[in-house]
Amino acid sequence: MTTKINFNGEILDHLSISVFDHGFLFGDSVYEVVSTFKNQPCFLNKHLDRLYASAKAISLKVPRDKEWFQRELKNTLSAAGNDESYIRIIVTRGVGEVNIDPSSCEQPNIILMVMDVTEYPKSCYEKGIQVALVSIKRNPRDSLNPNIKTGNYLNNVLAKMEANKLGAQDAIMVNPWGYLTEGTTSNLFFVREGHIFTPSLECGILSGITREMVIQLAKENGFHIEEGKWPGEELFKAEEIFLTGTLKKVMPVSHLDGRLVGAGKPGPITQKLRRLYDDLISEKA
Ligand code: PDD
Repeated sequence: MTTKINFNGEILDHLSISVFDHGFLFGDSVYEVVSTFKNQPCFLNKHLDRLYASAKAISLKVPRDKEWFQRELKNTLSAAGNDESYIRIIVTRGVGEVNIDPSSCEQPNIILMVMDVTEYPKSCYEKGIQVALVSIKRNPRDSLNPNIKTGNYLNNVLAKMEANKLGAQDAIMVNPWGYLTEGTTSNLFFVREGHIFTPSLECGILSGITREMVIQLAKENGFHIEEGKWPGEELFKAEEIFLTGTLKKVMPVSHLDGRLVGAGKPGPITQKLRRLYDDLISEKA
């Protein structure tokens, strides 16, 4: 049950960070959440690739290379000594003037948080979770592109708050044109007539690493899977819905806006993909 924070290469028990860091002031930062299997990071290379791509998209130069991250993370994981860990990698714009212009920020800060992981209860996987199609829209790609994983998540926070008010555990957002996008920290899949569908990157979503793996597993196992654009209402016709993400893995959805999805319990395709994904994680580790 230990938390260790690595701040620019120094492993600490606690971290206080400057209020002048633009990550704090403006959400001017990028981040990744990585899970572990047997306390080894899962798909770290892919997460680091996406971290660098996100940083590039906001013109933030990450001052360290991949080897540095791999080494520091290994040291921080062993300092924490948990059975399994929640890993959060953050790169902020750094300390600068209290002014939206990032040019006064000279040195990005790198924070690696390693904490004991709180897994979703088994009952969520056995029964499915409730989601709500909320009124808050996912950002369009020509605003803050959802494919850049920045520390500016207020849009998703608002969506989550709306879902909470509606008695749901998570929110599904559509884009400003009414097309399905994703959950607040997960990607969306649904099943109709035995076929699997998932919103395409064009709809304005994060290209999830779990999503990518699940698409690959579905193809390898002979499922018909299609990426595309579907209006929000389409989701009510789904026989199965599931969400994917580093923490949720493959999470079945039982209710949409209080209505049963299919039989109101995890469907066969969701369960099969969940098993395949769990096996993949244990094989890769
Ligand atoms: N979120 N969509 C959004 C908006 C996300 O924040 C995430 C991940 C995903 C799924 O991506 P991946 O499969 O690579 O985890 C999709 C992490 C878990 C988080 O911010 O906590």
